[in-house]
Amino acid sequence: MPRVPSLVKGIKRAPMHPDKPQPLRAQKSASLKGSAAIPGDKSISQRALILGALAEGETHINGLLESGDVHSTAGALRGFGAELERQASGEWRVWGTGLGKWQSPKAPLDFGNSGTGSRLVMGAMATTPITAIFTGDASLRSRPMARVVEPLLAFGVRYEGQGPKALMPLTLHGTGEARAIQSDVTVASAQVKSALLLAALNAKGTSRIGQGTLTRDHTEKMLSAFGAHITVKSLGEGEEVVLEGRVPLKATAVEVPRDPSSAAFPLVSALIVPGSEIILPAILLNPRRTGLIATLLEMGADIRIQNRRSSGGEEIGDLAVRHSKLKGITVPAARAPSMIDEYPILAVAAAFAEGRTVMMGLEELRVKESDRLAAIMAGLHANGVPAHESENNLTVEGMAKVSGGGLIKTHMDHRIAMSFLTLGLAAEQPVMVDDTAMIATSFPEYRDLMAGLGAVMETV
Ligand code: S3P
Repeated sequence: MPRVPSLVKGIKRAPMHPDKPQPLRAQKSASLKGSAAIPGDKSISQRALILGALAEGETHINGLLESGDVHSTAGALRGFGAELERQASGEWRVWGTGLGKWQSPKAPLDFGNSGTGSRLVMGAMATTPITAIFTGDASLRSRPMARVVEPLLAFGVRYEGQGPKALMPLTLHGTGEARAIQSDVTVASAQVKSALLLAALNAKGTSRIGQGTLTRDHTEKMLSAFGAHITVKSLGEGEEVVLEGRVPLKATAVEVPRDPSSAAFPLVSALIVPGSEIILPAILLNPRRTGLIATLLEMGADIRIQNRRSSGGEEIGDLAVRHSKLKGITVPAARAPSMIDEYPILAVAAAFAEGRTVMMGLEELRVKESDRLAAIMAGLHANGVPAHESENNLTVEGMAKVSGGGLIKTHMDHRIAMSFLTLGLAAEQPVMVDDTAMIATSFPEYRDLMAGLGAVMETV
């Protein structure tokens, strides 16, 4: 099979460690109109590259998200010996090595801002006798890796991280002798579950990975498409994933649906800017990712799901969204896993709703790209919106008019930046976000796409 050198020219790369902040100001905009093509899903894009790099043969990916986080993962996979080539926008080929054949990278792996990329790759290399050093930007270096590397110890790995949270820089020594494990994932994290499943691929015997909450299931679905012997058993409120080790993965074609977590920003913008009416075609509607849509519908949002269909083993549909009068509700903790990345933008929608919105069970927000609970509270207060937190619940008091005028600190968090730019589109005074460089980690097209719908944002 011909192998050509990697071609990654002509695409926007997120600066991994941008030197200069990129402030942006969003202001009250006239009605948003039109249709917008949201880029590929980040979670599925990351998994497509990783499984492609572990499989035998040539994996074809369409609709891949070309963002900073995905490029970080692609770079790391090249370090392990896989070959990846970009053929056209979103169209990639991956030549995998086969299970257990990754090599030790020659240099430390810089995952930039990407928690998903780094944690899943830790799992994927854990049962191969190689060593790698993981590092990233200031945000990633402050995030706990112990939640992944501690459960991986059961396979026989060793690691050296920084302090009890096992912060990066972290060195991971994989093992070629791993036996299957039986493990319960105690945090509501798809990243931890996925890391264990990827490690189990090259362990001898059948592993059983349980979880008490239903987190996103893209790894399980994609493993099945790559020919893994995997079954999922429902267990009360949770489930157990059973995976047979040492079954070779076979390259396949992957169609990446459009990211609902990115769609959330134009969606809420249209709901809060009067007179808006937009269409977001072909959005992923996996039920483990649609908590925000369910919540907004309960709040009275005019969102119609049209042309529900299936693509690449996932449910998708077109979202038709109109400006709506929202009302405050209580969002139960049990819904958190299906909308874990959407609380910053939900808090913005809640600021424009009539009455009080209470969001429960938000402890995982503390360990995202920033302490998102703190960043949401600070951002709402800076814009004159009453909000308070207690015991991992967040309460937002909706307002007839949101004053805005705040200066937002993003703390290197793309979703905080996009959420408060959204607030600025419907507030009385413009909202200034101190640094928007990180938006390119998940949604490089954000600014152009929003401008195309009529949103007014200016470089300062
Ligand atoms: C992700 C899982 C979630 C989510 C992240 C993407 C994934 O993290 O916040 O943006 O692709 O598995 P946790 O698993 O830590 O909840």
